[in-house]
Amino acid sequence: MPNEPRPQKPLLAVLSGHRVDPPPVWLMRQAGRYLEEYREIRKRTRDFLELCYTPDLAVEVTLQPLRRFALDAAILFSDILVVPHALGAEIEFVEGEGPCVRPVRDASDLARLDLAHLHERLAPVYETVRRLRSAVPEKVALIGFAGAPWTLAAYLVEGRGSKEFLEPRLLARRDPNLFARMIDLLTEAVTEFLSAQVEAGAEALQLFDSWAGVLPEAELRRWCLDPARRIVSILRRRHPEVPIILFPRGVGASLKLFASEGGAQALSLDTSVPMAWAAAEVYGPGCTALQGNLDPVALLGPEPDLLAEARSILRAGASRPHIFNLGHGVLPMTAPERVQALVRYLKSGDV
Ligand code: CP3
Repeated sequence: MPNEPRPQKPLLAVLSGHRVDPPPVWLMRQAGRYLEEYREIRKRTRDFLELCYTPDLAVEVTLQPLRRFALDAAILFSDILVVPHALGAEIEFVEGEGPCVRPVRDASDLARLDLAHLHERLAPVYETVRRLRSAVPEKVALIGFAGAPWTLAAYLVEGRGSKEFLEPRLLARRDPNLFARMIDLLTEAVTEFLSAQVEAGAEALQLFDSWAGVLPEAELRRWCLDPARRIVSILRRRHPEVPIILFPRGVGASLKLFASEGGAQALSLDTSVPMAWAAAEVYGPGCTALQGNLDPVALLGPEPDLLAEARSILRAGASRPHIFNLGHGVLPMTAPERVQALVRYLKSGDV
């Protein structure tokens, strides 16, 4: 048990190594299209990035799920792709298709990206964090986030979402030096972005490596684990009080590597990882907390099944400092009533 005084906010208490009963809960993509009040605001903005860069609206959208549900954290409303956008990448969100990026595949494409305007372009995001810090309820922690370098590079090289991300995987093998330069640039940008979010008021950080799972171990180490470790070590030196959650999605047993070598306080588990296995096997120096990992599809099914699935995750995670969450984001077709039932159940302490 850590010697430091236990933080007041349940989520921060868990991230500093304490078990909290019932565990704190928040949901990835807790703000978004499944909420009609989100769709209402979304209609008013021409494109999605404009929503991310308008503090009035981004603050409002961040707070929407907290008004409905007894959540323990607010996550800044933004997107992982604001970082490549601020580096100069051409990015558009196309209705019904997701992100569309002008691909970055050779040295001259890469030369168009740089750090010169990073903070200036991301200033509205920092302003959103600043306003949120004074707007969130007393017991609610404010989480900042960024996409991890590999996942950002995957979108930059592929040019769009994909199941396979073949183009970045090929480029990383065909021209590892060029690819390393892209990863280094993104690593520096992500570090500075997260650091600025802390300076604006973020109390915990999550690094989303949504596409880590497509890489074999040697590449996983080089393109995901090493950059995560560099980011974490700089942030921990600058902001020792701010805990970090790593989410290397889809890596299975390699979660153990991220726990033992990543340097972060917590790992977020995707749906495929048994919580009981992780509770027994996934830990490392300073990495005591686990987050996760209800299947977001369970929120689409009957309520008794949903609650039974939540209960088994609670039981499996009970031996560790645990943050209840999903294994991936809330799906747009989710009924808010189901989320309400889940959160009420978790808060009832009746498991
Ligand atoms: O969790 C939250 O509530 C905070 C907000 C948040 C969004 N995106 C809002 C969003 C966060 C943390 C993200 C992270 C993100 N964005 C990831 C990592 C997590 C994951 O899901 O794996 C990734 C890969 C992205 C990239 C991205 N942004 C995609 C692929 C899409 C399109 C998919 C879709 O659902 O349409 C987005 C758009 C996006 N980001 C939306 C939201 C609410 C939907 C945009 C809309 O309203 O039209």
